[in-house]
Amino acid sequence: ALEKNVAEIKQEADDEDNEDDGEDGADVIQFHPAFTYPIYGEHERVFGYKGLSINLHYAAGSLATFVEVKFQKIITAMESSLPIPLRADNVEAPLIQVLSQPALCQSKQEFANRVAQDTEQFRPPGKKIHEYVRDSILYEVYKGDFSMAAVRQYHERMQTFVLFFIEGAQFVDMGDERWTVYMVFEKLHLEGRSSACYNLVGFTTVYGFYHWPDMRRMRISQFLVLPPYQNMGHGSALYKAVFADISNDLRIVDLAVEDPSAAFDDMRDLCDLRYLLKHNAFEGLRAPVALADVKKLGAKYKLARRQITRCLEIALLRQLD
Ligand code: ACO
Repeated sequence: ALEKNVAEIKQEADDEDNEDDGEDGADVIQFHPAFTYPIYGEHERVFGYKGLSINLHYAAGSLATFVEVKFQKIITAMESSLPIPLRADNVEAPLIQVLSQPALCQSKQEFANRVAQDTEQFRPPGKKIHEYVRDSILYEVYKGDFSMAAVRQYHERMQTFVLFFIEGAQFVDMGDERWTVYMVFEKLHLEGRSSACYNLVGFTTVYGFYHWPDMRRMRISQFLVLPPYQNMGHGSALYKAVFADISNDLRIVDLAVEDPSAAFDDMRDLCDLRYLLKHNAFEGLRAPVALADVKKLGAKYKLARRQITRCLEIALLRQLD
């Protein structure tokens, strides 16, 4: 849950027996993980509990975290007809392992206080490189790398999401400063507050490989828009901001993507095609296109071979009657 409603959380914290977890609160957004196998094993099961619910609460901007585990009772092997282990599985330990320790709150009250404080004080890490408006709300794109302590700390909080939403994702090596992180934040002006508050929308990690003699090739490694913000154009906006940033950098040869998902490919094809068509990139080209021309196009528009070939094929198919 991305917690936004401070008053509601405080109310819950005040009342330990309160069974209402804020599900009905307009400002508390709940969503479920797509994958839990990195935490609970390949079968994505936790044994030994009746009525188990695991709630991972996040402050929507700072990503301060609180783990809340509830269950009706522990089921012993004697009580069950199923071949369950003698002891109930440990629910919290494997989850806590993949969370940022400094962001973890020990109680709901501490979490409520952190949300209240962070709503006022949290500012995105890194440097603002772009902004855009959707439905009258301002979104800002920030860029940073792991030489910046604030970006490192914030990335440690964000990275847990890749386990939940990107299949096969692993944490990146934050000791390597060749990573660049781009983040999108929603900037809201809440009633009764003088300063704006920021909520995380999505982020991407991009790795800079060395390219002879003194250039770099960039490769998107992880790209995620949080579920409440998906299919609203934010992925495209973030991708375009990254692509523009890379295109403007004379030291960068091209942009590639590591192991893209089908949804990411769809989004990227649309963005790249619109961009290439706008720049009349395919003017005068007819199939079959010589490899040298494909290479030239890739170099000019800084797209790796696989992607420029995909876009070219789609563009040529459009010419078919
Ligand atoms: N399936 C098919 N097409 C999709 C999907 C999807 N799930 N999501 C987006 N698209 C396409 C649509 O055609 C859409 O076009 P439309 O506007 O005409 O409908 C277009 O992409 C643009 O959509 P956006 O709203 O900009 O995309 P969104 O903000 O949802 O971001 C993304 C797309 C990044 C795939 C997001 O849904 C997400 O984070 N998903 C979960 C994690 C994931 O799969 N990440 C990518 C893994 S690959 C990697 O990390 C390198």
